[in-house]
Amino acid sequence: MISHVVRNDKFRALSEKWSNFLKPYDSEQINISILYDDPCPIFIDSEQRKFQIDFENDRTHYHKRKSGIGSEPLSRALGSGKYGKRVLDISAGMGVDAVFLAQLGYEVTAIERNPFIYCALENAWKNANFQEQLQFVFSEALAYLNSSEQSFDVCYFDPMFPTKTKSALPKQEMLFFKSLVGADNDAESVLAAALNSKRFKRCVVKRPLSADAFEFKNIKPAGHIKGKIIRYDIYSN
Ligand SMILES: C[S@@+](CC[C@H](N)C(=O)[O-])C[C@H]1O[C@@H](n2cnc3c(N)ncnc32)[C@H](O)[C@@H]1O
Repeated sequence: MISHVVRNDKFRALSEKWSNFLKPYDSEQINISILYDDPCPIFIDSEQRKFQIDFENDRTHYHKRKSGIGSEPLSRALGSGKYGKRVLDISAGMGVDAVFLAQLGYEVTAIERNPFIYCALENAWKNANFQEQLQFVFSEALAYLNSSEQSFDVCYFDPMFPTKTKSALPKQEMLFFKSLVGADNDAESVLAAALNSKRFKRCVVKRPLSADAFEFKNIKPAGHIKGKIIRYDIYSN
């Protein structure tokens, strides 16, 4: 059951729009309240864990110190702009990486398939005062790849990590996020489809440092950039 706790009249129309949007997900398993609080809504699950995306005020995640397009590990994995700056991020999540890349100067389209996460992203983006070239799209990545005619240079994929790893999110937010999103068990086939689409000069996948890279048929990462707990696997086309 999805309930809406609307504190502020200003948000009533928006709440109705979201109710319709979320209807297909209205099942016994999902019990989430949406508490509208200025400026971004807060999601609360049955265990009273809270989840919110706020690009403007969450300085830890969205106002990171950036040393430049040529030196940040994620940017280097994507080619530092050498292959072009149009990025398709097929796993928007909380938008941390998408915002980060846009702040480095990339033009980012970020896809999210989970309606709650997308709702939070959409609203956070509307309330943010950012000038960066970034858009969020509510879609399954494969459906988007099949239907969109937009051109991209590089692709970034950060599926949920399979095992318990350290996270930058506070514990309750991470637990809520995981309970909403699940395990992304289709990650390998999503990557295979992205590579087979031949629409990208490079695809980069974020993995836990200790996890195996995705490998299939004759496709293997052409290189890696390693951090302390994560690794970027680079696939070239
Ligand atoms: C680990 S999170 C990504 C975190 C993100 N990189 C960030 O910086 O906030 C994974 C997200 O990707 C989404 N996702 C996974 N596979 C997807 C797919 N095939 N299409 C669209 N979204 C997908 C999940 O719903 C989840 O929200």
